[in-house]
Amino acid sequence: MSHWDVVIIGAGAAGMMCALQAGYRGRSVLLLDHVKRPGKKILMSGGGRCNFTNMATAPGHFFSNNPHFTISALKRYTPGDFVEMVERHGIEPIEKAPGQLFCADSSQPIVDMLLTECQWAGVELRLSTSIECVDVRDEGVVLSTSSGQVLADKLVIATGGLSIPTLGATGFAYDIARQYGLEIIAPRPALVPLTLDMPWKERMSALSGVSAPTIVRCGEGRYRDATLLTHRGLSGPAILQASSHWQGGQDVHINWLPDIDDLTATLKGVRQDVPRKTPGGWLGEHLPKRLAQAMEEWLGLSGSMADYSNQKLETLARQISDFTIKPAGTEGWRTAEVTIGGIDTRGISSKSFAVQDRPRLHFIGEALDVTGQLGGFNFQWAWASGYACAQAL
Ligand code: FDA
Repeated sequence: MSHWDVVIIGAGAAGMMCALQAGYRGRSVLLLDHVKRPGKKILMSGGGRCNFTNMATAPGHFFSNNPHFTISALKRYTPGDFVEMVERHGIEPIEKAPGQLFCADSSQPIVDMLLTECQWAGVELRLSTSIECVDVRDEGVVLSTSSGQVLADKLVIATGGLSIPTLGATGFAYDIARQYGLEIIAPRPALVPLTLDMPWKERMSALSGVSAPTIVRCGEGRYRDATLLTHRGLSGPAILQASSHWQGGQDVHINWLPDIDDLTATLKGVRQDVPRKTPGGWLGEHLPKRLAQAMEEWLGLSGSMADYSNQKLETLARQISDFTIKPAGTEGWRTAEVTIGGIDTRGISSKSFAVQDRPRLHFIGEALDVTGQLGGFNFQWAWASGYACAQAL
């Protein structure tokens, strides 16, 4: 039976960061994972180029039932700290959008960097190891694993959320949290494409691949970014962001012409200046051609602008700038980038990430009820929570 200062379950973003930091603090660290390769989500992330942080990261970029929980960790490990590590390893950050930092060609260098740091810090990594039983006692932690029993002074659970089971996601963290009396905020898929029922499914499917700049609103969320039409419904960054607000039965509102502030006034101007122009023709000058043609059909547009009364123009402006659609659902865990909900952080210390009345047991990363918006915030939470926890190990 081996004995370690710290055992960390989950060799993903948060687990690797926590392991290397604890190793550098002189702790003996064993990092366990049930899959064959560490950091699988890092490899898949950012379209294969890992959007590893966002320089603008602030608590306001996260959803949680306990919004103040993130403040301490985000302050103690900043995007600049991670960039310093990245640059030290010769990885050049590419800023694809303001504040959003990516790798140039592939996410692999980020995984290699974390593994190298783990090695330098003396962390022992054991892959393809399943955890059969966890017993956190006052005097220490006992784990039964597929490679035998392991004893530890401290246990850190970094097994993430439920998104993409084929990448190794399980509800392990929630099971252990429940075992020790913590509450779970109902998990649901987020940053996920939305699906549609007929006839919209067929209509969007016919336009699959078309993308347009939009403003998408859902509940309290409002995002200005691209919407992509797909075989199943709606995707693209604006829709993924809105999906984090979407609850079954809710409408999603799309403004297809986000750069025009007063569309009714603009349409009236067009009617006055070019009365013979057709509304479909005008739309074709402002939207991708296929989308404009389809919209002409969906909205039953005919005749020329001169035929449109003020009231009809107001209706048309609303149909385009507040296009309202009721999704049937989401694509679910199969494609969701993250989980909203998770372990209720009111039972966890925001300093040490230990369970309030069980100081040997810690939870970090996406397993907690902390979910970032799109744009590198989720990794920054993984790095920051992993680092902050390690300072208490
Ligand atoms: P993570 O999921 O990374 O790691 C958990 C680890 O625990 C895994 O290695 C898993 O195998 C292991 N595990 C699970 N159950 C276990 C068990 N029972 N026993 C043992 N081990 C177990 N974020 C971002 O900021 N920028 C981006 O570009 C992207 N892009 C992106 C794309 C895609 C396709 C996805 C799915 C996700 C993203 N994300 C993202 C989100 C980001 O990947 C995510 O928030 C972090 O990886 C979460 O880090 P964690 O370490 O908490 O969990």
